[in-house]
Parts: sequence; C-alpha cells; structure tokens
Amino acid sequence: MDRIEVLDKVFEKYIPHEQILEAIRRLAREIHSDMGDKQPLFLCVLNGSFMFAADLMKEYRGACEISFVRLSSYHGTQSTEEVKTLLGVGEEIRDREVVVLEDIIDSGITIRHLTTQLLRYGPASVRVATLLLKPVALAGKFDADYVGIEIPNDFVVGYGLDYDGFGRNTRDIYKII
Ligand code: IMP
Ligand code: MG
Repeated sequence: MDRIEVLDKVFEKYIPHEQILEAIRRLAREIHSDMGDKQPLFLCVLNGSFMFAADLMKEYRGACEISFVRLSSYHGTQSTEEVKTLLGVGEEIRDREVVVLEDIIDSGITIRHLTTQLLRYGPASVRVATLLLKPVALAGKFDADYVGIEIPNDFVVGYGLDYDGFGRNTRDIYKII
C-alpha cells in the first residue's frame, strides 16, 4: 500500500522494507567488527524498537544476548523535559558491552537520558545503534555510534514506530503528508 491512514492522519510510503533491511545488515556488520570476539548485550528499547531488534539479531553473526528495557511514562514536574525512569534493567548489564537499540533519535533527549541511567549499573561500555536519525536541530544533539538511515524532520510510522500507539504493524516506513 502506498498510503495508509493511522487514526486521524494520512501517511505515504517512504522507506521500503528492503532498504530498511539493507541498513540493518550494514549496522550488524559494523557492530560485529567493533565487537570482535566480545559478546554484546543488545538492549531493545520498547516499544518502538521491537522489529528493528528482531531483524538486527537475525543479521548479527557473532555471539550475543538481548534484553528489553522501557522508559516509564511517568511525567515529572518540569514542563520542558519529562522525567522518566528506566525499567527492566539491572545487574545483568554490569561489565557488559551494551549496545542500545533505538528506533529513532530526534532531539536526542530520550537517548541521552537512557544512557545516563544505564551507566549507573557499571557496564563495560554503552554504544547506541539507531535505525533512524532526524537532522541535527539542537546543539549538543546525541551522537549515536551506529546510524541506519538519516531522514528529514518528518513524522514517520511503521516498522514498529507509532502514532499514538497505532501504525506499528507495517513492513515499510511511512511519512506523514
Ligand atoms: P527524542 O527524545 O526527541 O530524541 O525522541 C525520541 C523518541 O520520540 C523516540 O524514541 C520515539 O519514541 C519518538 N519519536 C520521535 N520522532 C518520531 C517519529 O517520527 N515517529 C514516531 N515516534 C517518534
Ligand atoms: Mg522509542
């Protein structure tokens, strides 16, 4: 389908599945070549990254493990930035080579917050792989170690990414029109 409706908005096909998989194969090779014989612990950031994590693991040729984390939807008192707690992470990341799998980085606030919290558990290293990266808009934007596809500043859905919880269930990625 070239167009889909999600809730009250219309989206058009933007990144076909095969292009997504090509980017993921490259990411898997890059991560593997950096890891050598170390065994990474992939951390899939729920919910948006579940498809990305599944496909990346299928392409990763070395020994690896996966675990799943999410940020609580608790909203803090500051109006500018939501205060969120990292859920689902514990001692298993101590001394591990952690590779965070994120669906998309926009302002970088979410991922910066997440990596800061992860460091408290004493991992050997924390790297970040993001499937999608929006353009540098803010000074001090997060510098991801592995970037799948850079996209313009459009809102996208599909392949795990949502609009208000819906629109995740497509193979391709769609952008708003
Ligand atoms: P950031 O904190 O501004 O980097 O935003 C990152 C988070 O916002 C991602 O983990 C997504 O959950 C969400 N997000 C940002 N842009 C999009 C988009 O275009 N579609 C769907 N979710 C998005
Ligand atoms: Mg997300």
